[in-house]
Amino acid sequence: MILTDGLTAAFWVKDVSMDEDGMKRIATAEAMMPVLATLRKKYERERPFDGFRLSACLHVTKETAVLCRVLRAGGADVALCASNPLSTQDDVAAALAVEGFKVYAFRGMTAQQYYTAIGRALSHGPDMTVDDGADLVTSIHKLSRGMSDESVSYVKQGLDEIMPQVSKIIGGTEETTTGVLRIRALEKEGLLLYPVIAVNDALSKSLFDNPLGTGQSALDGVLRATNVLVAGKTVVVAGFGRVGSGIAERAKGLGARVVVVEPDPVKALQAYMNGYMVMSMERAAGLGDIFITATGNIDVIRIEHFIKMKDGAILANAGHMDVEINKQDLQSIAEKVETVRENVALYRLHDGRKIFLLGDGRLVNLVCAEGHPSEVMDLSFALQAESLRYIAENHQRLEKKVIPVPAEIDRTVAALKLQSFGVELEKLTPKQMDYLKSWAAGT
Ligand SMILES: NC(=O)c1ccc[n+]([C@@H]2O[C@H](COP(=O)([O-])OP(=O)(O)OC[C@H]3O[C@@H](n4cnc5c(N)ncnc54)[C@H](O)[C@@H]3O)[C@@H](O)[C@H]2O)c1
Repeated sequence: MILTDGLTAAFWVKDVSMDEDGMKRIATAEAMMPVLATLRKKYERERPFDGFRLSACLHVTKETAVLCRVLRAGGADVALCASNPLSTQDDVAAALAVEGFKVYAFRGMTAQQYYTAIGRALSHGPDMTVDDGADLVTSIHKLSRGMSDESVSYVKQGLDEIMPQVSKIIGGTEETTTGVLRIRALEKEGLLLYPVIAVNDALSKSLFDNPLGTGQSALDGVLRATNVLVAGKTVVVAGFGRVGSGIAERAKGLGARVVVVEPDPVKALQAYMNGYMVMSMERAAGLGDIFITATGNIDVIRIEHFIKMKDGAILANAGHMDVEINKQDLQSIAEKVETVRENVALYRLHDGRKIFLLGDGRLVNLVCAEGHPSEVMDLSFALQAESLRYIAENHQRLEKKVIPVPAEIDRTVAALKLQSFGVELEKLTPKQMDYLKSWAAGT
């Protein structure tokens, strides 16, 4: 292992003396995460993770810190690395390091540092993995298949041993759409080494976190970075899936004219029937004042679009990877690039026009704001915790496949959230239950 820039076996953070601010920040999140608080009490009694080592690759935010504490309360020994080079809250990472978590994350990591940190988290010798975007899972698979690209060479720099003990991993969880896509691709090729639960696809996740959490926080990111007035602007949203539909709705709520770009006919129709203008990026490029991508795809905005854009166009991405806005293309037509505000790069084009890129084209809600509100992460991370428990208790009978979150867990998490709001559920009468099960009753 190569030791660089303060990397130790125990942690790698920007400045461990930021811990007090981090503790305060974590406390504010904890107060807004009642479902996790309930699970924590349960886990303290039942210790479902006793003897289990967990390696997590997540955005290192205050909400993730709450999850780590809950898992530890259940007996888990947790190591954590970042799932994005720019999303780490450094004070939170410092607080976790002081609390004795193995945490390898700081804001502004290079690609080399990012993958070296993944190597460190793997050296923990996990029984289970927790991922957001699948960089941890794919690193494990590349290592075990003897693949040798640049990322693998960096991962190896963080490893204690040449090869982590992959055979002891009993299962994992995946938080986001892009990660599930990548893990399904491994499964399809028959390469998946252990079962992975697709937390992203649970209803208590994808109906709330993706549209409401990202919908609000992506706009929050644009506003914090630019302080631009959204009312009266044309906002182009690329992708009308779970995330994009939420962003479109929030932008509309702020008074924008919203244009949706979407290749799927059903999603495009849904957007149209919801009152949005729907068109190709080729047409939208010249109309938009603000562009937000949320597709999970590559090259969604590229050179032929940049050359049509208005002077002063603002570009942001809410998808997992920084490939949705083609930065190389933008760079290739720029005379000069300068940072004009925190998280805002101004590209001055050869023809004199200006284009602003937010957060280096990485997740605008995490880089330019604080990510999803704690209340919504309460649901997503409760699903994570309960899915990990499910793996701990059932791994012997799980296949090496992408597995849905069991419906029972989905319903329990939603019910706990409702309980925290003091909301009462309607109870069906026995007659109603029978009626719903019967085929004989007609008009
Ligand atoms: N920022 C965050 O905090 C956050 C949270 C959740 C998910 N995500 C990420 O957001 C992305 C989208 O997630 P989702 O759950 O909405 O996925 P989804 O599959 O529900 O929606 C994606 C949509 O993009 C469309 N699309 C694909 N290529 C396109 C293109 N070139 N132009 C326009 N549209 C295109 C698809 O047809 C689909 O409707 C993923 O990368 C996911 O990991 C980010």
